[in-house]
Amino acid sequence: MASARPLIALEKVSREYDDGTVVALRDIDLSIAPGEFVVITGPSGSGKSSLIHIMAGFDHPTSGTVLWEGRPVTSLRGWTELRRTRIGVVFQEFLLLPTLSAVENVEMAMAGTGIAKAARRARARELLDLVGLSARLQHLPHALSGGERQRVAIARSIANKPSLLLSDEPTGNLDSTSAATVIDLLQSIRSQTGMAFVLVTHDDKIAALGERQVRIKDGRVASDAVRASAMAAT
Ligand SMILES: Nc1ncnc2c1ncn2[C@@H]1O[C@H](COP(=O)(O)OP(=O)(O)OP(=O)(O)O)[C@@H](O)[C@H]1O
Ligand SMILES: [Mg+2]
Repeated sequence: MASARPLIALEKVSREYDDGTVVALRDIDLSIAPGEFVVITGPSGSGKSSLIHIMAGFDHPTSGTVLWEGRPVTSLRGWTELRRTRIGVVFQEFLLLPTLSAVENVEMAMAGTGIAKAARRARARELLDLVGLSARLQHLPHALSGGERQRVAIARSIANKPSLLLSDEPTGNLDSTSAATVIDLLQSIRSQTGMAFVLVTHDDKIAALGERQVRIKDGRVASDAVRASAMAAT
């Protein structure tokens, strides 16, 4: 796995806020290989969300470089294109559009991809079926439970078959049963699609599922280890 060309690589990435008063990330070097399942843990305020935002291109380093498949991503347009075609995101807040139904929220992700409207609708239905929501297609987000909303967000995140799924505490707002459903679902999607999956979590049980565990402390990578059983499997 280590020999594969990284899908995404951070090189000496730092992120400072408030004119350098706050240093959220310090000289981070981190590469994610295609298909890898990486869990990111660390204390509150250690920089996990800052890291995920930079990997998604929602935020940008104060210094350092982010490379996608070996090439630096330097423009906002480049990031928009990557998020449209290669990178999916699932965050703690579901970020669904409140005035659109479940199926419309998923369809939205495919706008501008050149897929015809009818095909977009069909794929959105298929994806909602995959996440167990075929009976909730027309519901607005407010009429769905937290776990159901997160499943709509997952269906949306994989609509364009991303190579990398980034998720910042996707179960942070859910009870333990819904959280288990969401994690099972993300795991099964990952094994079916072969996408790489980077997951931030505070939950030790969920963290233990990762093939590779990266611990962030004070904006630095404090440890980065491949789980022994995952190593045996490769
Ligand atoms: N927009 C901002 N302006 C100023 N400081 C910020 C900003 N965003 C984050 N920070 C600071 O950067 C540091 C890292 O924050 P970050 O959100 O990445 O932590 P985290 O590891 O995700 O924490 P948590 O586990 O609580 O979600 C913190 O000290 C935080 O206060
Ligand atoms: Mg966070």
